[in-house]
Amino acid sequence: MRASELGVIDGHLTIGGVDAVKLVERYRTPLYVTDENQVRERFRAFKDAFSGVKSEIYYAMKANGNLAILKILESEGAGVDVFSAGELYMALLAGFPREKILFNGNSKTDEELELAVEAGVTVSVDSLDELEALAQIAKRLGKRSSIAFRVNPDISPKTHPKISTGIRTSKFGIPHTEVMDAYRRAWELDGLDIKGIHCHIGSQILELGVFGEVMERMMNLVEEIKDELGIRLEFLDIGGGLGVAYREDDPAPTPHDLADVVLPVFKGRCKEAGVSPTLILEPGRYIVADSTVLLTRVNTVKRAYKNFVATDAGFNLLARPVLYGSYHRIVVANKMDLPPEETYTIVGPICESGDILGEDRRLPKIEKGDILAILDTGAYGFSMSSQYNQRPRCAEVLVSDGRVELIREEESVGDLMMRQRIPDRLL
Ligand code: LLP
Repeated sequence: MRASELGVIDGHLTIGGVDAVKLVERYRTPLYVTDENQVRERFRAFKDAFSGVKSEIYYAMKANGNLAILKILESEGAGVDVFSAGELYMALLAGFPREKILFNGNSKTDEELELAVEAGVTVSVDSLDELEALAQIAKRLGKRSSIAFRVNPDISPKTHPKISTGIRTSKFGIPHTEVMDAYRRAWELDGLDIKGIHCHIGSQILELGVFGEVMERMMNLVEEIKDELGIRLEFLDIGGGLGVAYREDDPAPTPHDLADVVLPVFKGRCKEAGVSPTLILEPGRYIVADSTVLLTRVNTVKRAYKNFVATDAGFNLLARPVLYGSYHRIVVANKMDLPPEETYTIVGPICESGDILGEDRRLPKIEKGDILAILDTGAYGFSMSSQYNQRPRCAEVLVSDGRVELIREEESVGDLMMRQRIPDRLL
């Protein structure tokens, strides 16, 4: 969240007009707090940026799959990218229209393909194996399946290697040099309707020039498919990936900046080729990242090798720092008007040395009981949480214009044993 958009009243952080300290008094810590207006604004910015062409915004639910957030985006007219049967189930539950659901995935089970065909959603096929399986399943069910192919465009964005997905060595998609064979094969098979083409080159991309290359490469294929097979694709989906400014001095590209790179190529090439596919974008992070803070209480302040501040949230609730070395700004929610005084390393309660949320941060003097807010945690925050160390997951609340609503109850220790069984012989 841009610091300017976070409020401060009487030295306390506010989010969506609500005092963070009051929130934790009512709901305890740790607590994820999401500002509804921010989610809506971010989505609208995306929609608006691409409104000059026939386009759809498919929210990537993996970023944040809370049902209330899905409902908000569905009400804004979003489509949705799903990556598993579970995500498909949630999308249908949230009421997304099936014609605006794209089922992605590099390792779908036959069962998942069957669900996709039954639900009538479009499948982004990731391999020739999958294509054959899907055709057989459609035949068995006596239904048709709409498909696209996920292309590996062999393009390298500047981002963390673990979230770069369109480079040659990536596990995702069919190499762009081979994907024509897949379209030819799909053309021969019964029961499949070839609708589109899809790629996704990676996440947290701040230098957008690369999306121009992606568009050129994808339009080459759109053209080839038209020329060779006579198919005018209904959609071209270039995935998500627009990054957000986690650090104060990160560049903060907007959806309009992305549109400025992508649309001239798209429009020019469509005109040249005589095609008019719908342009689909699949943002996840940009829509939800800066809508949310994670509030966590300080359990201990300890002067050891470093000045450690230990909180009640760790990588069980926010895995990004430990997984990718990600940076999230941290503020002291009950001391917003105090100047930085000391350098602290913020650590979680998990039994691993890597459980560090923020290193060497200049903050006001911190004491036991203070409330820290970890910013920009709406994307890949709760959605990647775990119960590691037998810690129940925390609650989530939604705030909007001063209103507060619980959108996920915190788990209890009882939930930890859910679905476990002790064999009788061990009782
Ligand atoms: N479409 C597909 C097919 C994807 O795989 C992804 C993200 C997206 C769209 C959305 O990308 P976004 O707009 O959010 O960048 N856990 C990592 C990010 C993993 C991204 C996975 N795929 C993190 O916390 O940075």
